[in-house]
Amino acid sequence: MIKNRRTTDGYTYTVPSPETYPYQWLWDSCFHAMILCKFDTETAKDELRSLVVKQFEDGMIPHMIYWERGKLHDYQWGKEGTSAITQPPILADAIWKIYQTDKDLNFLKELYPKARDFYKYLIKERDPRSHHLIGIINPDESGEDNSPRFDEVLEVEADITQDDHLKKRLGLVSANRECDFNVGVCMKKHFWVKDVPFNSLCIKNLNTLSEIALLLGYTEDAESFKLNSDLIARAMREFMWQDGTFWPIDIDHNKIKVSTWAHFAPMIANLYSPEEARLIVEKYFTAEELLGEFGIRTVSKKEKSYDPTGFWRGPIWMVPHWVIYKGLINYGFTKEADLIKEKSLQLIEKSGFREYFNPETGEGYGAEDFTWGGLVLDMD
Ligand code: GLC
Repeated sequence: MIKNRRTTDGYTYTVPSPETYPYQWLWDSCFHAMILCKFDTETAKDELRSLVVKQFEDGMIPHMIYWERGKLHDYQWGKEGTSAITQPPILADAIWKIYQTDKDLNFLKELYPKARDFYKYLIKERDPRSHHLIGIINPDESGEDNSPRFDEVLEVEADITQDDHLKKRLGLVSANRECDFNVGVCMKKHFWVKDVPFNSLCIKNLNTLSEIALLLGYTEDAESFKLNSDLIARAMREFMWQDGTFWPIDIDHNKIKVSTWAHFAPMIANLYSPEEARLIVEKYFTAEELLGEFGIRTVSKKEKSYDPTGFWRGPIWMVPHWVIYKGLINYGFTKEADLIKEKSLQLIEKSGFREYFNPETGEGYGAEDFTWGGLVLDMD
């Protein structure tokens, strides 16, 4: 974390990997703040301050901030200086964690309006048909860039290469640039998925935001965020539920039935009943489906697209591990949660702070000095 700290224009932030990801990323920074909390809340606060300073007027927070332009993969994901798409909304939980650590009410007051505007944006702009589900306009907004959950809507084959997939997503960005990133238009014309982890994390964070609002005396906001959290949870049941689990849906509300770690994600927001959660663990926390020798596969071994080396098409990533860990704890699956933590530590010891890992061999791939391994510190 120390090695990856950077300061530009007086703003201090952490790059996910100096060589591969030399910018600031939205959900990464929220995780960084949670990790940094374990050492020094002032550093954690600076991380989030740098993040929200580039918030758009409509409330959106971009998923990338190019603090130092021209470094690497110098393609534009949108506007000048930042991308024009977002990432899973875990900002409220990051702010809350800092507050819980040092009880600095001033920091809560400082960041609250930024968080409020971001979640209001998601509720208003990302749900143009008022179905109470938040939509994404590019797979990268899920944080799982080439996950096969998006293959059908992107119209790509199960064996697509990582490079071809990136080209496809960049094509989407160009198309969205033509719509000037007007999400209503972009979603209708090009790509509109209501995804399971994104909405699960949003539900959890709206509850957190509601608590923050209440603490600060904004009762109306508190009620409204709680209501929206409940509405999204209800809509997930109505539109995404089938065969004992939640599935992402497309523009016409067709379920996208690709089996991934996303089966576990609703547990972080308590969206399953205890019995449903038990059945999920029984079915998917297994070697035939998602449990590899070294941890949880991002894609089920039963899927045609499963590739233990394929970026988000099978390998283990620490963020899903963290989400699954928290969800398992919620439902009292301590043995399984301990296993996730143990496997995470084992991977870091074996292969270092790598970006993603082969679930069958433990081999590390992708970026080096990658920050996400630090999340084991928050598996407590
Ligand atoms: C990769 C990941 C994405 C992450 C980014 C920076 O693109 O898929 O989730 O935010 O790297 O670490």
